[in-house]
Amino acid sequence: MPKRLFKTKPIHLLMEEADDGKTGLKKTLTATQLILLGIGAIIGAGLFVRTAAAAANNAGPSVTLGFIIAGLGCAFAGLCYAEFASMIPISGSAYTYSYATMGEFTAWVIGWDLVLEYALGAATVSIAWSEYLNKLCGYFNFQIPYALCHSPMQVLRSSSGAIIAHGYINLPALFIIIALSLLLIKGVRESSIFNAIIVITKVAIVILFIVLGWSFIKASNHTPFIPAPGTYTDEQGVIHNFGGILGILGAAGVVFFAFIGFDAVSTAAQETKDPKRAMPIGILGSLIICTLLYILFAFVLTGVAGVEDFRHAGKEASVTYTIQTYMHGYGWLAKLVTVAILAGFSSVILVMLYGQSRVFYSMSKDGLVPAAFSKIHPKFRTPYQSNILFIVFVGAFASFVPGDIVGDMTSIGTLFAFILVCAGIIILRKTHPELQRQFKAPFVPVVPVLGIITCGAMIYGLGWPNWVRLGIWMVIGLVFYFSYGIRKSKLRTLDGRKNENKLSK
Ligand code: ALA
Repeated sequence: MPKRLFKTKPIHLLMEEADDGKTGLKKTLTATQLILLGIGAIIGAGLFVRTAAAAANNAGPSVTLGFIIAGLGCAFAGLCYAEFASMIPISGSAYTYSYATMGEFTAWVIGWDLVLEYALGAATVSIAWSEYLNKLCGYFNFQIPYALCHSPMQVLRSSSGAIIAHGYINLPALFIIIALSLLLIKGVRESSIFNAIIVITKVAIVILFIVLGWSFIKASNHTPFIPAPGTYTDEQGVIHNFGGILGILGAAGVVFFAFIGFDAVSTAAQETKDPKRAMPIGILGSLIICTLLYILFAFVLTGVAGVEDFRHAGKEASVTYTIQTYMHGYGWLAKLVTVAILAGFSSVILVMLYGQSRVFYSMSKDGLVPAAFSKIHPKFRTPYQSNILFIVFVGAFASFVPGDIVGDMTSIGTLFAFILVCAGIIILRKTHPELQRQFKAPFVPVVPVLGIITCGAMIYGLGWPNWVRLGIWMVIGLVFYFSYGIRKSKLRTLDGRKNENKLSK
């Protein structure tokens, strides 16, 4: 029985399914295009919203150091991810690769975990989108009522601490999820030109903010740079470790969200010219550029506004708030940043919703989740039922749960998936030394072990409420697998060539 749990999906079946009448993927992507792909998926709510949250709740100005730890963890895990992707000669996600190499059970765990990365990631960015939409409305002298753009778990307090408003539902976040899901159902995907425009816009506003904000840095906001260890209880009554090493690790876990998406680069391994050279350049290049930008950005943001700002008046849409409040004469920059952020967030949400439907499409084809997730629309040729079901799931989180909670759940889920991928690389070098690897992670097992340690430290820093949430999600996944997936798995029900043919249909 345990052996059957680790049954792997034959690579020829994967290739037959992926081929779909075409003769393999074209190898056209260059290292520069991979870097653009990475940056397009990476820069988003993590930088423009979670940085301030990490400064307020965990680390003050030392959130800057959190970015370094998170970037290192991603670099180690990213190299392992690229080796994993390059072993399987088709494009896919960590779910697909692990099914072929580590077996069904591990693949299920990773696939189930990726829901946290993609679906809850999309919910987190939609909540951030809602904050900046409210700022945009402010330019037209209009405010969305607090109750209609916050979750029921959020309250607004006056400076004396009295509750002055309750959230009911986050309607703008729900709206953007529905709108972008409908676009996906129609088959809209980002073109590489659109991606390049978004990348240039995002990088430009980050650089503008760093350069223009630099002269507004107040040394007092950076002192002490690492606050003394203690705790901070936020407006919602949640207690956070603040300051010291634990604060920095917590901040690293929170801002790790800002790096999510770089794994998109490794999934393009099969469409890349000379992947041996281009992959590490694409992954490490986009990570290095983003890490440098993030460190400088966090340094300027926490220098221009103080921790107390990020805890109260500047808690939401923190970048626009900081420019409006402290960078006098730069009202135009605040407006530009708001509009650019809204566009940039939309593209990140689109990529995440697309990734989610793609993972569940594969899992459904394999029989591990119901067939509805792979039902194709007759006209648009997209998995529309899956998109609709995820509108309900992602929309519920976007509407009713605060961004801090879904953001941290996204981080912890992705960190856990990265740990599995790092461990997988060490195991596969032993169990499958014969598999061709177009790209090999350097210094194995040192690099994967460092990946496991760094990602594990960030999980530790995220604190027990997040461990419990991850545990609950994984227990639900195991119950689902042992009551449904294990019985319906197409691989298990296969018996000989006859059934193999059936699967490849
Ligand atoms: N890294 C992406 C963001 O920060 C998910 O929005």
